[in-house]
Amino acid sequence: TSVYGDYIKSVIRTVRDWPNPGVNFRDITPLLQNSAAFRKLIDSFVHRYQELNIDAIAAIDARGFIIGAPLAYEMGCSFVPVRKKGKLPFKTISETYKLEYGEATVELNSDAFKKGDRIVVVDDLIATGGTMLAAAKLIERTGGEVVETAAIIDLPELGGSRHIREAGHNVFAVCS
Ligand code: PRP
Ligand code: HPA
Repeated sequence: TSVYGDYIKSVIRTVRDWPNPGVNFRDITPLLQNSAAFRKLIDSFVHRYQELNIDAIAAIDARGFIIGAPLAYEMGCSFVPVRKKGKLPFKTISETYKLEYGEATVELNSDAFKKGDRIVVVDDLIATGGTMLAAAKLIERTGGEVVETAAIIDLPELGGSRHIREAGHNVFAVCS
């Protein structure tokens, strides 16, 4: 976690019993509405990655886009969307992964990366880690190197960040 972790955590809202009873949903909209907090958030990612020769930020549909776009813009590198199934019109590759009930598929443009590209994957939150791991697999299939997987929030009790590390990736979260 980062030096701004406690501050960022203080501007994230927890909504009890949403979308289902027993779930505490971490809602980042108050953080996004707070311009000083949003700036600190993006700056903390920029400072972490700007000297690492990153070629692209790969951001996960949809909330990952909110941080991925300003991060890529500020770093002066490519922005690449990892999208939910059926949204990308060109030639894609896809990964399907298990959810608590059922499965989900994410897709990446087949021409998004070339061998050796250095990529940071970003999303708002890591729960089971399934989405982030699927995105990392897609990137590796293109020959790209996943330098780190990054999120605003990690929910460590769900084991996602541990699974991602066990798969051999670095994981960074601003707060837990
Ligand atoms: C949420 C979240 C992550 C993912 C985390 O996305 O933004 O992408 O789930 O869960 P996991 O670690 O168990 O895979 P959601 O599918 O709700 O999509 P959204 O960003 O379009 O709201
Ligand atoms: N907040 C936001 N997105 C999520 C959560 C959460 O608590 N759990 C799984 N995806």
